[in-house]
Amino acid sequence: MAYTLINLPFDKHTLEPAISAETLEYHHGKHHQAYVNNLNALIKNTKFETLYLDEIIRQSDGAIFNNAAQVFNHDFYFQGMQREESQPSEELLELINRDFASLEAFKEHFLATATTLFGSGWIWLALDESGNLRIESHSNASNPLLNGHTPLMTCDVWEHAYYIDYRNARADYLKQWWEIINWEFVSQQLIDFNEKRSSHPNVCNDNDELCNYIDTLEQTDHSNT
Ligand SMILES: [Fe+2]
Repeated sequence: MAYTLINLPFDKHTLEPAISAETLEYHHGKHHQAYVNNLNALIKNTKFETLYLDEIIRQSDGAIFNNAAQVFNHDFYFQGMQREESQPSEELLELINRDFASLEAFKEHFLATATTLFGSGWIWLALDESGNLRIESHSNASNPLLNGHTPLMTCDVWEHAYYIDYRNARADYLKQWWEIINWEFVSQQLIDFNEKRSSHPNVCNDNDELCNYIDTLEQTDHSNT
């Protein structure tokens, strides 16, 4: 299948002054578009052509992995922002309080991790196989799918995400980014995770996308069932 660039879920001026229209024109219009174009060119006439994006990420390496993961990561990042103020759902807040003590402590931990990541990469909030929240720091194109974890939220700390607006001041970008998190999107990822868990079928067909997803979450092998 051919992948297409997602439309931004907001007007390019909407996130100003946190993120400018010019940054979005480059970040979404040039960088994100290039990852989509590269991926389509690289998987054409290969075994990856018929796979879903998450499957390509788990099964590939090198250039195909880098471009597939960057498409996934940027899709997640752009959908995870909005101008309107929002709050974590009650359910998500309960988990944050359980695993990080408070929303404020979580914020501090998340932003400190993002500030100190060396070089280019992504900071994620993810759920591990036991349903515990984790802050994960991933270099380059890596993401929590590689650990069998479920991503809920991400922040892009590649310089192309902030250099036009903040030059080298990553911490200033992060401070502003925190104010435009789309908590409805983040909370929805938790709902989806719980729904997939509760609907886990007893007998899996390993060609089934949901089954593969659950297998990854649980690190189990259903190939003989
Ligand atoms: Fe980026």
